[in-house]
Amino acid sequence: MCGIVGYVGDKDVNSVLMAGLWRLEYRGYDSSGVASIVNGDLEVRKVEGKLMNLEGILREKPLVGNIGIGHTRWATHGEPSEQNAHPQVDCEENIALVHNGVIENYYTIKEELIKKKHVFKSNTDTEVLAHLIEEYYNGDLKESVLKAVRRLEGSFAIAVIAASEPDKIVSYKSGSPLIVGLGKKENLVASDIPALLDHTKHIVIMNDNEMVVLQKENVEFYNRDGESIEKEEREIKWSPTSLDKGDFPHYMLKEIYEQPEVIERNIDLRLEGGEFDFGENFNFSPHKLAHLSHIVIQACGTSWHAGYIGKYLFEGYARIHTEVDISSEFRYRKPVMEGEPLVMAISQSGETADTLAGLREAKAKFLEILSLVNVRGSAIDRESDGTIYLNAGPEIGVASTKAYTSQIFQLYLFSLYLSKLKWAMDATENEEKIKEVNSIPKKMKKILKNVDKIKEITEKYKNEKHFMFIGRGINYPSALEGALKLKEISYIHATGYPAGEMKHGPIALISKNSPVVAIAPHSSVYEKMLTNIEELKTRGAKIIVIASEGDKRIKELGDDVIYIPPCEENLSPVLVALPLQLFAYYIAILNGRDVDRPRNLAKSVTVE
Ligand code: G6P
Repeated sequence: MCGIVGYVGDKDVNSVLMAGLWRLEYRGYDSSGVASIVNGDLEVRKVEGKLMNLEGILREKPLVGNIGIGHTRWATHGEPSEQNAHPQVDCEENIALVHNGVIENYYTIKEELIKKKHVFKSNTDTEVLAHLIEEYYNGDLKESVLKAVRRLEGSFAIAVIAASEPDKIVSYKSGSPLIVGLGKKENLVASDIPALLDHTKHIVIMNDNEMVVLQKENVEFYNRDGESIEKEEREIKWSPTSLDKGDFPHYMLKEIYEQPEVIERNIDLRLEGGEFDFGENFNFSPHKLAHLSHIVIQACGTSWHAGYIGKYLFEGYARIHTEVDISSEFRYRKPVMEGEPLVMAISQSGETADTLAGLREAKAKFLEILSLVNVRGSAIDRESDGTIYLNAGPEIGVASTKAYTSQIFQLYLFSLYLSKLKWAMDATENEEKIKEVNSIPKKMKKILKNVDKIKEITEKYKNEKHFMFIGRGINYPSALEGALKLKEISYIHATGYPAGEMKHGPIALISKNSPVVAIAPHSSVYEKMLTNIEELKTRGAKIIVIASEGDKRIKELGDDVIYIPPCEENLSPVLVALPLQLFAYYIAILNGRDVDRPRNLAKSVTVE
């Protein structure tokens, strides 16, 4: 959601900013823009729509210079338009600013500035800040930015340049993510690491209420009071090629196919030497975990679905009462937190605003937080007491795939670890369940090889307008996830339901040929699932079933069957996820959708 990039050095500012913005495209946006300083004047180019449009403008009218800021905007205040795109400038066209986040008290400040004769050209909250900096400006950009940000409420990351100080970028973080890239005779700032990787692997992660002033050969960090501070430099291990699509037409497909490798990597990391190892940042003692009263999981979107699966695992294996909440509900519902609960935040990006706020809500109650996060150094990672990393590698496609299956995998192992600590399961059984994971990568590869069957089915159903996804037990959340994947990338209406609940309302939606995706691998609730499928079949539904190999009975019930290899029931959501992802992917492709960048969605949702 909104991407910022800033550069100062010797390279051509057009290509550095454009390449950076392409790398941030995955975050979701609807307009974009860049600004540089040329011979003491600001130059700004902005467009509505895709980055291709900005590239076109820059080809016709390139920016000149070696310092600049760029932005992809995901509209919050003011519709997507050239006028509302960033950079936003002040009255004198001396200051240009890009912003990620929301300035909540913008309206009051705007009224105040209008009285002081500032003239506004956009409907954005961002422009207010450009004028506020101008109001305080007296030849020192750093000081005027500091004065301005102290007045703001909300969450924001900004990068600012001033034509009168053409050698520097001033950037400030309060809420939204901001990373500094340290190069040789060049320095950068961006919302996320991919935008920096083509230039440097040396980064500094900014914390809230910190400022950075970047010059070609100098980088200074300050706190909110303007005092100089020291920051830790880190080296990134990813290579820029891990951010390419390779031979795949889309990131989403590439990431679907990377899943066996992600699970293999995590088996090595988590079970090396026959002991559980949740990584260098786990930080929770066995003693503490053995005495938990209950677990509270809070997350958004796909991560919430993984959390829901976690509930079945923690309760089923470790016998620990577990609540799962959507973060935007958790933070406002005044949850009762008695006893010694463990709060878990689950997030691919580690930056989701609601999940972060839920985490802070729990911290304010002096509760300890264990997070499952893919992006190291992200806000949720930094603010948690402990983190289990997903080790999925960069996930670029907006719809989460490999991070999701890694989340389930980590929760599976963590639940077995807890069951051991709490003596909730017989030791031999525990060993058996751990061993089960070794077969998963091979089984995943087998499903991915059988993609033709899924393609064939999607051809048949590509024009349907509504889909129902049903499952029971641990695959009820899989049904929710299957429906979410389909809506996210194909824009086709889909609902996930617990199969047993269909007759309490949703069955009214079923008529002749209504497509229903039924998740029915062999499990403790298999027979119940069959009954539920029968009920739908009787009413004319077309049933697409995900079933275990060797299941002959299902052939009679299902109009189309996708087989997956048999596996331990509690690991089945990891396998089931693959056909569901491929189903959504091919339906979306057949409908001509932009699967990596679906409309209105953002990969990293940094506003409430
Ligand atoms: C956005 C994405 C979803 C994702 C959700 C939570 O809505 O489009 O794919 O599941 O955010 O993101 P997180 O990074 O916290 O897992």
